[in-house]
Amino acid sequence: MKRITSPSEYQQVYQESVQQPEKFWADVASDFVWRKKWDKVLEWDFHKPEVKWFIGGKMNITENCIDRHLPVRANQTALIWEPNDPQEEYRSITYQELYDQVCRVANMLKNHGVKKGDRVCIYMPMIPEVAFAMLGCARIGAVHSVVFAGFSSGSLVDRINDAGCKLVLTSDGSFRGDKKIDLKSIIDEALLKCPSVEKTIVYKRSGSSVKMKSGRDFWWHDEIKKATSTCEPEVMDSEDLLFILYTSGSTGKPKGMVHTCGGYMVYTSYTFQTAFQYQPGQIYWCTADVGWITGHSYILYGPLASGATSLMFEGIPSWPDMGRFWHVAEKHRVNIFYTAPTAIRSLEKAPLSFIHQYDLHTIKVLGTVGEPINEEAWHWYQEHIGRNQCPVIDTWWQTETGGFMISPIAHVTKLKPAYATLPLPGVQPAVMDENGKELTENGVEGRLTLKFPWPAMARTIYGDHQRFKDTYFSTFPGKYFTGDGCKRDEEGYYRITGRVDDIIIVSGHNMGTAEVESAIDEHSAVCESAVVGYPHDIKGQGIYAYVICYDKPHEEDKLRSEIRDLVSKIIGPIAKPDKIQFVSGLPKTRSGKIMRRILRKVAEGETSNLGDTSTLLDPAIVDEIKSGAL
Ligand code: PRX
Repeated sequence: MKRITSPSEYQQVYQESVQQPEKFWADVASDFVWRKKWDKVLEWDFHKPEVKWFIGGKMNITENCIDRHLPVRANQTALIWEPNDPQEEYRSITYQELYDQVCRVANMLKNHGVKKGDRVCIYMPMIPEVAFAMLGCARIGAVHSVVFAGFSSGSLVDRINDAGCKLVLTSDGSFRGDKKIDLKSIIDEALLKCPSVEKTIVYKRSGSSVKMKSGRDFWWHDEIKKATSTCEPEVMDSEDLLFILYTSGSTGKPKGMVHTCGGYMVYTSYTFQTAFQYQPGQIYWCTADVGWITGHSYILYGPLASGATSLMFEGIPSWPDMGRFWHVAEKHRVNIFYTAPTAIRSLEKAPLSFIHQYDLHTIKVLGTVGEPINEEAWHWYQEHIGRNQCPVIDTWWQTETGGFMISPIAHVTKLKPAYATLPLPGVQPAVMDENGKELTENGVEGRLTLKFPWPAMARTIYGDHQRFKDTYFSTFPGKYFTGDGCKRDEEGYYRITGRVDDIIIVSGHNMGTAEVESAIDEHSAVCESAVVGYPHDIKGQGIYAYVICYDKPHEEDKLRSEIRDLVSKIIGPIAKPDKIQFVSGLPKTRSGKIMRRILRKVAEGETSNLGDTSTLLDPAIVDEIKSGAL
């Protein structure tokens, strides 16, 4: 893969990638193992929408992530696993061991009747087996749908049923700091409502006691023994499904984003190597969970397809103390460290001694993802973790984009705090005004769209192509609309300013307002609710809920905690509202639409300048809401 080593080279490569995208991506793709070369690089039509890359190409992503490295790096570490508890032994998995383990899981799945195209739900902690599980599915062409192990049984039910999963890979439990979570019992509850699931295979991690349903539930350690350690990779078409990953939408129903094999492989590997300038032998650590796209693309597929050593961490940044990240970075001599602004902001609050007791000189590149990073956190990160010697690679992208879109290139791009900077090669952003006109100048602010396809873009929403079209391709016909606002400054640098739709990003996790509202509304005392985001010191955005009850609540705090518990049970702890204000009505227009703009301003602490409220059905409600603001 040709490296970009200077700003002028970036300009040149970028121009080539825009002028001749097909040639550009064909060159990148030729570095990979194809069982049959593609007949055509690209076909696309954003009006339909339809996008296909490397058409007619045949390959398997695991052959590219594992087998092809074996002649040169069989004994190189592919994955380092650092457990939740620092007292427990860490694990190093070489490429050869990864091959054996992935083949075993693939055979175990086959033994249980899983075939190409079947959907498999993975609900597991951050342990190496979750990587074996994902790659094992990909090996045989089964489509994985990983559900973050912090989601509740209700969220699991929606996701399993939407994808029609046949089998679930899970574990007895998981560890998170000093807590133990019983995953199997959450699965048991979910499966009462999931008729498509025939079997589960349960990995023993926490030692929690679990109920095993005979004929349905099997122990991983028993089943894996029956599986051999070689498994021919299934030959996949470039456009065959690789995985489904759910993300929140502006309705209550999560969207199953569909990613396909060929383009995703090429793009995640290219962007990983380009943005971070990964050098062979370096230790790379992305702190995300595999339950999110960052874990899919930049713990597993991108790094492994590049022959990298990738660290997986089971724990949390604050346990046993606020120095855990830095302890792990020193212990494994990490060279590239990639985390989220929310983690940076929470660690910033801890005394610097938690950092200074560790030697972080091996770190050469820092990365961030998931939400806008504020300038102060950016500087803190660069100064205290990067010792003012490491570039901060602020990667802007989405579950839908599959890989980095706008991002600096380490040691090449001139940085600007809080800016994702410039589009990577092949990425063609367009900033639009509210009337749908493209703003072609620099020094503008508007909505961020993409006007040309890139190989890793999601192809559809599983089972609902119309929703895919409506959500991403109808606001600005002929363009992919990201849902984000942005500025492009005089130098052409991009700064992402946040969502312009009904998505709230809490600690880097997408949350649809409708999803949280429908969970709150499940409480028998609640008549209606409206949820907005507000600035939160650590989480970036917090959740502020306005709740109307049938009767005026007697014990407000008790009801608040019941509502929080309920949301936690229905969606998961990450969706718990931070603030709940009881109101007698909501600011609605005459057509019944909630004016969230007003609710957002009140939640932000702004009570004077609320804009025009004359179109409201009942303008008096605004005064009540203002006076009761929390
Ligand atoms: O609003 C943007 C924000 O996160 C959204 C995508 O969320 P998700 O699909 O969960 O993927 C997160 C990991 C890629 C975007 O629409 N976002 C992500 N990265 C950044 C960001 N906002 C600002 N700067 C970023 N670097």
